[in-house]
Amino acid sequence: MAIIVLTSAGGSPGVTSTALGLSLTWPRPVLLADCDRHPNQAVLAGYLRGLSAGGRGLGGLVQEYRSQTGDGVQQLLGQTVQLDDDPVQPRRFLPGFTNPGSALLFEHYWPRLAGQLAELHQTDVLVDAGRLDADGLPGALVERASQVLVLSRAGLPAVATLRLFLPDLIAGLDEATKLGLVVVGGGRPYSATEISDSLGVRLVADLPWDPATAAVLSEGDPPPRRLRERPLWRGYQALSSQLQPLGVTCA
Ligand SMILES: Nc1ncnc2c1ncn2[C@@H]1O[C@H](COP(=O)(O)OP(=O)(O)O)[C@@H](O)[C@H]1O
Ligand SMILES: [Mg+2]
Repeated sequence: MAIIVLTSAGGSPGVTSTALGLSLTWPRPVLLADCDRHPNQAVLAGYLRGLSAGGRGLGGLVQEYRSQTGDGVQQLLGQTVQLDDDPVQPRRFLPGFTNPGSALLFEHYWPRLAGQLAELHQTDVLVDAGRLDADGLPGALVERASQVLVLSRAGLPAVATLRLFLPDLIAGLDEATKLGLVVVGGGRPYSATEISDSLGVRLVADLPWDPATAAVLSEGDPPPRRLRERPLWRGYQALSSQLQPLGVTCA
């Protein structure tokens, strides 16, 4: 199994859409974990179209941690919901924080969650870590992660903002080589290679600019015809195959 963390420096380049797109194209069992410290309902109200999590998620997990009921992988899985009904590759979603103060209360529990995620031996984990802020990323998650992907759009404001956050982001990594760059919409106007060279961060992917496909994920829009042939979907498939650890190619 692998833990891969996705984040951004600012704006809204598409961290959640990308984490979701990768989860839905991941060629092995996968858990998408919403660990964004800024509470949002992007997946439940967007792609899952208003699904009620019934109290499951990081909030429910905190209550269990506090009451000491249960432990290990089953406790974690009990707080997840199904992401789709693919019988071959189970895909689950761990909902995130539901009120603004809860991330602060969770600081103490990141190591416990990271340990549980690492125990999911047959399942890879994609962590939506949201936007970086002054506190950086939860260290316990980063330590367990095999890769930390920072996403950016290709315009100057996005790249210049990422440059501001890079020193702290790199300082927070136990191994600098874990860091990779995913450009969303390379060529608008700067190419992904130009951005990677100018920031000195390894380029992992250049995802196509494709608002209609992205809106299926971020807004719950009805899928366009031949979703799987859309450029962005193919981009997610290619990145999933590239990232997942065993080198199994995606169907
Ligand atoms: N590859 C893409 N091409 C075009 N629009 C995208 C792409 N990825 C995401 N978006 C759009 O960008 C907006 C922000 O996406 P979201 O995933 O919520 O970003 P974040 O999690 O970084 O805040 C949404 O409107 C989404 O549809
Ligand atoms: Mg998001």
